This record gives sequence, structure tokens and C-alpha cells, in this order.
Amino acid sequence: MNLAIVGLQWGDEGKGKIVDYLAPDFDINARYQGGSNAGHTVRFEGEKVIFHQVPCGVLNRNTLGVIGGGCVLDPKILLKEIGNLTKYDPAIRERIRISKFCHLIMPYHILIDEIREGTKQAIGTTKKGIGVAYEDKYGRTGLRVGDLYNVESFEDKLRLNISRKNLVLMDVYHAEPLSDSEIFDLYMKYAEELKPMVGDDTRIVHEAINSGKNVLFEGAQGAMLDIDYGTYPYVTSSHTIAGSIGIGLGIPPYTVERVVGVAKAYTTRVGQGPFPTEDSGDLGKLLRESGAEFGSTTGRPRRCGPFDAAVVRYAARISGVKEMILTKLDVLAGLEKLRIAVGYEAGDELDPFAAEHLLPRYIEVPGFKEDISHVRSRKDLPDNALNYIRTIEKETGIRVDHVSVGPERDAVVKM
Ligand code: GDP
Ligand code: IMO
Ligand code: MG
Repeated sequence: MNLAIVGLQWGDEGKGKIVDYLAPDFDINARYQGGSNAGHTVRFEGEKVIFHQVPCGVLNRNTLGVIGGGCVLDPKILLKEIGNLTKYDPAIRERIRISKFCHLIMPYHILIDEIREGTKQAIGTTKKGIGVAYEDKYGRTGLRVGDLYNVESFEDKLRLNISRKNLVLMDVYHAEPLSDSEIFDLYMKYAEELKPMVGDDTRIVHEAINSGKNVLFEGAQGAMLDIDYGTYPYVTSSHTIAGSIGIGLGIPPYTVERVVGVAKAYTTRVGQGPFPTEDSGDLGKLLRESGAEFGSTTGRPRRCGPFDAAVVRYAARISGVKEMILTKLDVLAGLEKLRIAVGYEAGDELDPFAAEHLLPRYIEVPGFKEDISHVRSRKDLPDNALNYIRTIEKETGIRVDHVSVGPERDAVVKM
């Protein structure tokens, strides 16, 4: 069975924890979009491990991690990440494959992203160069992992790109120009280190599927950050919905057999842009503190608020999600009443074009007092927690398959 995990809100739903939990059942764990903007957290041997580009199922020693061609890759961050992972598995490099089709994130992408974030154009990006790298990809001037091994043409393309970027840097942003030879030398060093892991994702995943192996597709970000269907322009620069899997790995869409959504038991967002159920008062503060809601990539405080069923309904529809995993339910313990947005004053369905002005329509259900972080069986969940889950199922139309009650791998309740 090939299964996809996708985020149903604005990212940080707990996808990493769920992928790590499911990985033992899968031969391959593949990322298909995004890059070092992602921060997927796993608890392993009591430690917090944050993945940015490596698929987070690789801590399971039977799982091969594939970084697909739809991703953008920052070699510096990747090599550092792999270096950290060798602490847990000295042979980890043997279980990581990087697509030759991935576009490279270059120092000028990061610099331009950082500079733009200091202007009126700011949207609150992670400043990892993601958007600028995807701009070059679609502008057909990008450099790919596979280009690193054709040194002469890589050097020519790089010099041309840097001369163009330097014009922008100097004339538009009044910044210092970059040195092409320094960047060339650096990327040649990366090329050597990456080489044993570089391959053709389309073949690796295709052959695995053909020989009956199981693939776990790991989405980054969430549906509301999708470049087309999210809260544009406050989105990331890739497709975060399930439709992106085939493209991001060079495999046919029908190979994705099941799409499971991950949603937090409340809502968070990091960066700017509309967020109808945002609570800037006590509840938001409380959720941020009890849920430790600070960005895994940038450390920024996350904006928090009640669960928005209309957001999840919308996200589930565009990704074909029929079942979901509800995370961080433990964080809601102690709240007297739990609010759920079931629609908006203007209508029941989310229209991303109108998201800025939507006023949520809430229903309220009783909260639960008990600490549920040690619960591992459905029958031990308090009645009010079960009622909250059932209400979410009813209002989203999506079955809750598992509930996550803590950051650890085993803190999961099967429903
Ligand atoms: P991702 O980007 O979707 O993988 O999510 P992040 O890792 O950015 O953010 C989720 C955060 O919540 C991480 O710090 C996780 O360790 C933590 N987490 C995941 N599931 C649970 C849960 O059920 N309960 C609690 N308390 N924390 C969780
Ligand atoms: P994971 O995979 C939450 C947000 C940024 C910003 C917008 C654009 O951990 O869920 P970008 O750097 O991508 O150009 O920023 O998208 N963003 C995320 N928010 N989780 C993420 O990833 C995110 N990746 C990007 O905060 O608002
Ligand atoms: Mg994250």
C-alpha cells in the first residue's frame, strides 16, 4: 500500500511525528515538494530531532529516504542535517537518495529572500530562499543537482546567473554583489559530498512500486500554504496538496492509493496572512504555551486559535482525504469549553479569496480536565475528549483514524 501524509492546515500539524510512527511499515519514505522551509519534529531515543529536507522515516533502519525532484535542495542545510543524523545511525547516508532533478537553492536565493522580507513585499517567509529558487525553476534559469556533475556547463550557467542576480542585488536592493568563484568552489565541494546519494527518483520509486514495495509519501507544509489553492499570496512556492506527489517524484498519480490528512486539534499559523480563527487573546497565548507553538525552522511564535472545520473540509476535498489523524489533543486538557468553527458568517465554505474578512461561526462543546498524554487506548479517553473528536468528524465529514496525545512516537491512540 502506498500512502500519503498531507497537512490539512497551515503546516506544523505534526506530520513528522506521524511519518516516523508509520515508517516501519514502509520500504521507502519520499518527500516530493518544498525544501529547508519544512521543520518536521521527531522524538527519537528521548531526543528531539528536527528534519528539514531528509524524509523523517529514515530513523527506521529498513526505510530508504528519497528526496524527490519536486523539492528544492539547500546542500549546506542538507549536509548538516545528515551529519547530525549519523549520531543515530552511522550508515544513514546509505539510506538517503537525492533526485538529480531537484533544483538547487543557491546563496543568492537566500540573500534575495532575506532582503525582500525586509521590504513591503514581506509575507513572513522562512528566509530559506524557497520562493526565489522556485522562481528560477519556472523561469528556466535554475541549476539542478544533476547539473553539478557537468562541471563546465554548471560553471557557465552559474556565472550567468550570478551576473544577472548581481544586477538585481546592486541596482534594485543596493546590496553588495556576490562572488561567482567562491560560490562555484563551494558547490563543487557539495557536489562531491552529495554524489554517492544522487540518483533518479523516478526510477527508484517506480521500481519499488512495481516490485510490490510500500511507499510513504511525506508532504511538507499544509494545504492552506499551497501555491494555488492556499491563502495566496501568503503561501509557500510549491504545491502542498496530494496532487503534487506524482509530479514531485515523476510517478503516475494512480500510484497514490491512500491519502491521510494530519490536522492539529486546534489551528496554528506561522508567518503573515489570513487566519479566520486566530485568537490574539488568552486562548491563543495559552495554546502557544501549552502546545510549545514555536516554529521548528525559525523559532518564531506560532499564531494560534480554535479548530476550523471549514479549513479542514476544504483541504480534505482538494487532497482527496477520507481519514485524518488528529494531533496535539493533549494540549487542550484543562480548557472548560472547546470552540470549533463550523463555517463563517458569510457562508459555510471557505473561500481563500475572502479569507481575510471571514468571521467564524462557532459551536461550543464541553472540555476535558484529565491529562491524556499517557492514554494509549480509545476506551481510556475521557467522554468529553471523545465527544470533541466525534464533533470534529461530524463537522469535517472526515473520519478520525488516530489521535496523537504527545510528541513521542508511541503517544498515539487508534480510534
Ligand atoms: P510538522 O511540520 O507537521 O512535522 O510539525 P512540527 O514538527 O513543525 O510541529 C509539531 C510539534 O508538535 C513538534 O514539536 C512535535 O514534537 C509536537 N507534537 C506532535 N504531535 C504532538 C502531540 O500529539 N502532542 C504534543 N503535545 N506535541 C506533539
Ligand atoms: P512544515 O513542513 C509552517 C510558511 C512561512 C511563510 C510561508 C512562505 O514544517 O509544516 P517560505 O519560506 O516557504 O517561502 O514561506 O510559508 N511556511 C511554513 N509554515 N510549516 C512549514 O513547514 C512551513 N514552510 C513554510 O512561515 O508564512
Ligand atoms: Mg513544521
